[in-house]
Amino acid sequence: TERKTADRKDSGKEEQKMELNLGDKVVYQIYPKSFRDSDGDGIGDLNGIRKKIPYLAKLGVDVLWLNPIYASPQVDNGYDISNYREIEPTFGTMEDFGNLLAEAHEAGLKIILDLVVNHTSDQHPWFQESRKSKDNPYSDYYIWKDEVINNWGSSFGGSAWEYAEERAQYYLHCFAKEQPDLNWENPKVRQEVYDILRFWLDKGIDGFRMDVISLLSKDQSFPDGPVIQNKAYGSYYAGCANGPRVHEFLQEMNREVLSKYDIMTVGETPHTNADEAALYTDESRKELNMVFHFDHMHLDYDENGKYATNRVPLVALKKVMTQWQDKMHECNGWNSLYWCNHDQARAVTRFGNDSEEYREISAKMLGTCLHMMQGTPYIYEGEELGMTNADFTKIEEYKDVEALDIFKDFTERKGFSKEDTLHLLHLKSRDNARTPMQWDASENAGFSEAQPWIRVNANYKRINTENALADSDSVFYYYQKLIALRHELPIITDGVYELLDAENEKIYAYLRKGEKESLIVLCNFTDETVEYEVDESVKAERSKLVISNYKDAPEKFASKITMKPYGAYVYYTK
Ligand code: GLC
Repeated sequence: TERKTADRKDSGKEEQKMELNLGDKVVYQIYPKSFRDSDGDGIGDLNGIRKKIPYLAKLGVDVLWLNPIYASPQVDNGYDISNYREIEPTFGTMEDFGNLLAEAHEAGLKIILDLVVNHTSDQHPWFQESRKSKDNPYSDYYIWKDEVINNWGSSFGGSAWEYAEERAQYYLHCFAKEQPDLNWENPKVRQEVYDILRFWLDKGIDGFRMDVISLLSKDQSFPDGPVIQNKAYGSYYAGCANGPRVHEFLQEMNREVLSKYDIMTVGETPHTNADEAALYTDESRKELNMVFHFDHMHLDYDENGKYATNRVPLVALKKVMTQWQDKMHECNGWNSLYWCNHDQARAVTRFGNDSEEYREISAKMLGTCLHMMQGTPYIYEGEELGMTNADFTKIEEYKDVEALDIFKDFTERKGFSKEDTLHLLHLKSRDNARTPMQWDASENAGFSEAQPWIRVNANYKRINTENALADSDSVFYYYQKLIALRHELPIITDGVYELLDAENEKIYAYLRKGEKESLIVLCNFTDETVEYEVDESVKAERSKLVISNYKDAPEKFASKITMKPYGAYVYYTK
């Protein structure tokens, strides 16, 4: 089958080459566990996704990204893989996957999978073998040391080194101890990974989102990391992020596998600034199409890191977004655009306003601000409804390994009260994004017949797709329009981004400039009405409003504009 798929590219008639044509594509992220349960076990599954293809097609997105669907003990919800060639049984079978892929393709939707190859599950046969002895074929598949050789802490608490008695050595795990890091220095490991890639690409999938791909290459001196954010341990980023051989590995992967298929790739790259990202995404270097950075996600951190009560300051947000817009344009790279995903709080709660009064209007404003930028927008399931953070009140309602670790660390070691810690989890926990998708007002939000694995947000009776589809003014239809605009107006793909009024604390104003046309994008990030004067350099004699979240928005651009609370106004001029 490998031949066949490779031929497909050569014949060039079947599918359009995505790499050349990413510009106007929009990706929708599905968290399979929480999307739709079809078999009544309270856990979402592949057949559940199949049922919702018409919904996704109606929204108008081009690509679906599925979080990991492979066999996994689910310590980290599928980011701990025990068999890369099997479907997680609670999600379905390989046949179900084949059907999903075929039906998605029929509906004009591409599918990309999550590739998790910085680490495996400790239940993976490679690790089961590796831990047995120092001299078996898998001994060097992971990173083993006689002693704890540095101060690194794992992302989910405790030391990043765990002792394995059989082998009388320690192994490295940047994440949970059930997620041992693979040893990419070993060429056999790399070949194993390339085989896994081929296995899925030969089934006809359309690409990969690559988990923590910036961490693959470890500095072999394993230097101590700084202790930041009042943590108990040092940061492993010191020796893992953008390590000495990461670009060599990705270029090898590209040469041996990726370049042979018509696919898209997006790397998740923690600890990577725009200059480093240029190395991953500059087309001429043949690595990845684009990366997810975290610079805008870090703007509301405090001395304890992510779990903080700060709001993102708009001036800083504009600065970060602008840096990335400029850098990716300049280096011939490409941006991925996102406000939220399965690891982040809900966009409307974090960046907008989830009160009854402003939830919908601010969700639309956020969508506008992001979707008019250059790059590939990612919509996280439920974002198109303006779904909000979870409403959990007890620690028992949280399921995520990170949330449980933070609760323990903050209440036991840092001395925070339980109430304060629960409040921080409410603001920032990854579970905020993982509550079941809200389909209708029936029991369990139409997600499942059974009790869901994680509690549904009580606001599902109001906020659900059934209501959204019945209301022509809903966030759903607004997102549908944003997506359609990207498909229609080349300026959204190609226009040069230019920030206006950088120091304004309330308004995010920018241009997209083409040779003969341009877009003026104006977004009010506050709940106040702002009398705004657009920079005098901006002239638009003939203009038309292309989208706004207010019905009475002026049809023509004028440099003095009354911007209503969370108002968003986009003008096209020629
Ligand atoms: C990425 C994933 C996250 C996971 C981690 C370890 O950050 O998005 O969900 O826990 O990698 O695989």
